[in-house]
Amino acid sequence: MTEPEKFLFELPPCDLKVAEKKFKERNPIWTECKAKLIERYLFYFVQITYHGTYIDAFAGPQEPDKPEMWSAKLVIESTPRWLKNFLLFESDPSQLKLIQEMCDSQPSRRKEKNEPNRKIQIYHGDFNRNITRMFAENPIPEKEATFCLFDQRTFECDWKSVETVAGHKTSGRKIELFYFFPEGWINRSAAGLKIEKEKRLEQWWGTSDWRELLSLGGARRAQYVCDRFRSEFQYEHVYPFPIYEKQDQGGRVMYYMIHASDHEQAPILMNRAYGKALDIKETDVQLDWLRDALEALNLSNSVT
Ligand SMILES: C[S@@+](CC[C@H](N)C(=O)[O-])C[C@H]1O[C@@H](n2cnc3c(N)ncnc32)[C@H](O)[C@@H]1O
Repeated sequence: MTEPEKFLFELPPCDLKVAEKKFKERNPIWTECKAKLIERYLFYFVQITYHGTYIDAFAGPQEPDKPEMWSAKLVIESTPRWLKNFLLFESDPSQLKLIQEMCDSQPSRRKEKNEPNRKIQIYHGDFNRNITRMFAENPIPEKEATFCLFDQRTFECDWKSVETVAGHKTSGRKIELFYFFPEGWINRSAAGLKIEKEKRLEQWWGTSDWRELLSLGGARRAQYVCDRFRSEFQYEHVYPFPIYEKQDQGGRVMYYMIHASDHEQAPILMNRAYGKALDIKETDVQLDWLRDALEALNLSNSVT
């Protein structure tokens, strides 16, 4: 392993202040490229699982004229096309149209590349209402590697929905979560809620201690959110990955991408994805080397 690659097999630093400094110095992920982080992470993961299900709770593009920033599109188009099932949720009819067009434009399956017969389902309407129905219609097998992106703008995702996803599998590894926490503007948005503020915040955060959450900030708040994913849902590995505003716009942390997983490789691969998301993808030789290195770490091929 060469020296510059060394950090790619490390866990993110435990001390969040140190972690943020390192992330920022190393190869910071800007808001404009947060979708690439998700895509790159799943790209690494399928190198090991060869399969998977992707759930996108808020799937429409944030910037419809910048498709390169759109998570669902990047994940669906990522090669090798080994993720098999896609469950996409969206409430806005014009966004739904874009999702449908994007899905319809995907190339057909290439058997010679071991591509599975894909199933893409789009759920129209409020994710918070549809998630229970979706699981009733599509129970996820315990051994299916499954990932759920919650890319809410601010308070759209009810805590109850996160709980439903986290609790869906009753044995084995839980569904892995990528939860976007809106650090950069949460206090301003909360202050701006004029109608039923308390009810809205309680629905979003799930308890009345949202006041305590709002009283914190930065790495301490990220820790508070992570602790909740750990204690309430019993995820084994929970890390906040900072997503920054561009330096020339101030360089603040805009989101924390809270990554919750039961898989021991997950934080290592997310740390690697964070460092590599903005580079060109690795060659097959480098990916062979990645798999070998993970196996050498005695972590490979146990993914469910
Ligand atoms: C922040 S954007 C998602 C950005 C997207 N992940 C990307 O990579 O560009 C949020 C999307 O969720 C949709 N949305 C908002 N509230 C929703 C809800 N309750 N249920 C489903 N979709 C919702 C919005 O219309 C919008 O398309």
